[in-house]
Amino acid sequence: MKNIVILISGRGSNMEAVVRAAESQKWPARIAAVISNKPEAGGLAFAAARGIPTAVVANKEFATRAEFDAKLQETIDGFAPDLVVLAGFMRILTAPFVEHYAGRMMNIHPSLLPLFPGLGTHQQAIDAGVTEHGATVHFVTAELDHGPAVLQARVPVLPGDTEETLSARVLVEEHKIYPRAVQLFVEGRLVIEDGAVRILEHADVSGALDTISS
Ligand code: GRF
Repeated sequence: MKNIVILISGRGSNMEAVVRAAESQKWPARIAAVISNKPEAGGLAFAAARGIPTAVVANKEFATRAEFDAKLQETIDGFAPDLVVLAGFMRILTAPFVEHYAGRMMNIHPSLLPLFPGLGTHQQAIDAGVTEHGATVHFVTAELDHGPAVLQARVPVLPGDTEETLSARVLVEEHKIYPRAVQLFVEGRLVIEDGAVRILEHADVSGALDTISS
């Protein structure tokens, strides 16, 4: 049984997709906790209603990023995670925090990385005039939105698209690739090799992530 801790900041629809997939596909994993940096995050109610432990570590109560990250790490580690899943968690994390979870923390970013890191990705895609956009699940490294990609999903950018229509199209795909990526991790099928992810056809016998080099 692997322990998954999910971090959110808002509505938590990606968290919800992962929780539902874990339940319906009977993964050998438990969602050990959902943690938010915002007390008002909508996703907390969904998690609590399903009996998942929830916690809030409110960033505004900490004077520095380092103090916040230290408290967040302590809270996460209280749930003994095998994997930390950032699902719309809107905080830049410090290098020691990221290092602590190297090879066991994933994020979803709404663009075809390395295109459009940072915020406002859908508008950036529209402004750039690209015909294709999408989302990327990646392992988290110290450089924002730059870690090794696990899965990507592509959608067309259509004439007349707005930030709203495009983000809605991408979100449908996010809800497919994030659960799939987490499932691959749970199955021990992700290997980080020379800074890239290799997906094993069959589960690693040890069932563990084998970090050859990162
Ligand atoms: C998603 O588009 C995710 O890719 C981005 O923030 C959004 C969060 O949505 N990082 P939700 O909270 O999962 O509904």
